[in-house]
Amino acid sequence: FNFNILFYIVAYVAGSIPFGLLLAKVFAGVNIKEHGSKSIGATNVLRVVKETNPSLAKKLSVATVILDALKGTIVILIAMMLDASTSTLWAIAVLAILGHCYSIFLGLEGGKGVATGLGVFLVLIPIPTLIGAVVWIFCAKVLKVSSLSSLLGLTAVVIAALFLNNGLEIGSNAPMYLIAFIIYYKHIPNILRLIKGEEKKVI
Ligand code: G3P
Repeated sequence: FNFNILFYIVAYVAGSIPFGLLLAKVFAGVNIKEHGSKSIGATNVLRVVKETNPSLAKKLSVATVILDALKGTIVILIAMMLDASTSTLWAIAVLAILGHCYSIFLGLEGGKGVATGLGVFLVLIPIPTLIGAVVWIFCAKVLKVSSLSSLLGLTAVVIAALFLNNGLEIGSNAPMYLIAFIIYYKHIPNILRLIKGEEKKVI
């Protein structure tokens, strides 16, 4: 029996847990899938809950980033402790992202993969991820547009990973590109709004 399959199932199901949706529903009584960008991530938690309770919105949004990041990271760390191969770790990362973006609990709808991507990249390619996180935070402060900051941060991770021989190598950057592709793909509505100058700022 190949135990990797268990990791893959756990990664996809854990990735599928929509923490932002749950936190906003339980603590603010609002369904973020029906408001704002309709996404289930930390940005939309902040955007929607802010309307009624700004201080709660910040707390829930931070909690969403942390939990959405951890759900991928934890499965990878457990697999690492059990001596899983590097390619298995990357497969877990991809499946956690797929779970978040195409959740089994939400009829294959979901979020955009930024926080979960941050979590899995942080353990697999730490230095490029820290560089991307700095770019992300800087852009968010200056531009105040979450989606654009996420996309620029992600691009910085990919470029940094190309230049730095860093983290866990599997002889190919394919899984990293796949994760980046999924995140870009889920941002197509944001990209279209950015082009039209209609993307909302989050302040
Ligand atoms: O992390 C997701 C962010 O990049 C965009 O979220 O809600 O503005 O579509 P949203």
